[in-house]
Amino acid sequence: MKKINVITVDGPSASGKGELSRKIAFDYRFKILDSGLLYRLFAYLHKKNSDYEEIADKIKNEIIFQSKREAIYVFDQNNDITNKLRTEEIAKEASKLSSRDNVRKSLFDIQRSFYNDKGLVADGRDMGTVVFKDAKLKIFLLASSKVRAKRRYLELQNLGQEVNMPALIDDIEKRDLKDSTRKLSPLTPADDAYVIDSSNMSLEEVYSYTKKLINKEFI
Ligand code: DC
Repeated sequence: MKKINVITVDGPSASGKGELSRKIAFDYRFKILDSGLLYRLFAYLHKKNSDYEEIADKIKNEIIFQSKREAIYVFDQNNDITNKLRTEEIAKEASKLSSRDNVRKSLFDIQRSFYNDKGLVADGRDMGTVVFKDAKLKIFLLASSKVRAKRRYLELQNLGQEVNMPALIDDIEKRDLKDSTRKLSPLTPADDAYVIDSSNMSLEEVYSYTKKLINKEFI
């Protein structure tokens, strides 16, 4: 299989994939795909329209993604809808819809279309196992559910949302179980992925290890 210039960063929710991916993308000038955000967007649009094809067409033709170092912003006809996608309610809906074959199929080509040969960092659950099986470098980022709940807590608090820690841990564990036991594209590391447990590591430590892997595979 011809390997393409993609770094996949898979792992459970709030494992630090987003931050790591953005850091790599900006430092190495790679494009970025946050596939979880696409599933969230799908769930958000699905509230108003139940036709999967129309939702996929809208994502392809009307939605604008703007990648910044601190976050990826999503615009629907000039309206910034990013914060509407970053709620626990939408995350749950996205997790539910993501177990459906036709939802995954409608998003497959959209995800592949983010690739250009200058390089792409693809963040998600099945980037290394399904969407970019041909990626040059695959990372699977883990962290304990308590550490992840704490990170998500801070993230939601920063967005001004009210959060309850025990409920958050419970939500995260339930969603992990659902994401990793579903039949289609379950959350699991690819055979050729580097698995990093970041429970006791700072983002800087994870990044410095990742840079060594990038230098080994890409340079
Ligand atoms: O990474 P996230 O929390 O924003 O993802 C939201 C949901 O989308 C997650 O619970 C599962 C689903 N998802 C998926 O099934 N496959 C992906 N590649 C990314 C996300």
